[in-house]
Amino acid sequence: MILDAQRIIKNFGGLTAVNRVSLQVDAGQIVGLIGPNGAGKTTFLNSVAGTYKPSAGVVHFMGDETTGAPAEVMCRKGLSRTFQIPRPFPKMTALENVMVGAVFGADHGSSKSARQRAEEALEFVQFPMDVNTPAERLNAVQLKRLDLARAIACGPKLLFLDELASGLTPGELDAMMALILRIRDTMGVGMIVVEHIMKVITGICERVLVIQYGTPIAEGTPAEVMADPKVIEAYLGEEVVAD
Ligand SMILES: Nc1ncnc2c1ncn2[C@@H]1O[C@H](COP(=O)(O)OP(=O)(O)OP(=O)(O)O)[C@@H](O)[C@H]1O
Ligand SMILES: [Mg+2]
Repeated sequence: MILDAQRIIKNFGGLTAVNRVSLQVDAGQIVGLIGPNGAGKTTFLNSVAGTYKPSAGVVHFMGDETTGAPAEVMCRKGLSRTFQIPRPFPKMTALENVMVGAVFGADHGSSKSARQRAEEALEFVQFPMDVNTPAERLNAVQLKRLDLARAIACGPKLLFLDELASGLTPGELDAMMALILRIRDTMGVGMIVVEHIMKVITGICERVLVIQYGTPIAEGTPAEVMADPKVIEAYLGEEVVAD
């Protein structure tokens, strides 16, 4: 097991955004995390990845206790992530942005240069533009690919993908799902995938945790959680089920 997060709680003042959420990820395993807007999905990722210190709970990553460790420590240890809203350095080129990941990530001691690893990561995600394009000239979909390339260039053991597929056309969606599976198969990384698009969850996740108001309400295979009346009522709604 590469990640074992136990009973994570995150409070913001009087609001409990994450309430006793536990999640485990093995190498090469893709776990889905779903729930309505504001359920606490991003806050859970932030509380494990070091953006926030959890208010309570215990995190073990790569065999060590890492509860409350800062983001740069987690990154060096092999946790990479993409962001719901990517924020690259706008004046830097795509290649330079990915090199930042290569310099500061878990593979920083690699024999290959940061530039070489950044180029390989951009090629791996089939970055559709000239790699010397400044990030500020990329559209939302291109920025998501760039963010994924940056995350891969870190040399992760564990990858958090936060709504990476939102805004994609159906064709782009299939390509993104294939790419995520290719990352898992060639790099052997474990992943937590946060996604509202159920096709992605059913298509790539082995296991899914559903949260609502910060609290786990169901866990199982995609088929199991989607047939769960609690999940249908809380999240999926009738039109999604009818699909
Ligand atoms: N930094 C913060 N300070 C205060 N409240 C916050 C903060 N970040 C998130 N919240 C609140 O915590 C709750 C969970 O938010 P979060 O962004 O984790 O939800 P989410 O499940 O990722 O939703 P979405 O699907 O819309 O991305 C929300 O009520 C949100 O307003
Ligand atoms: Mg979110």
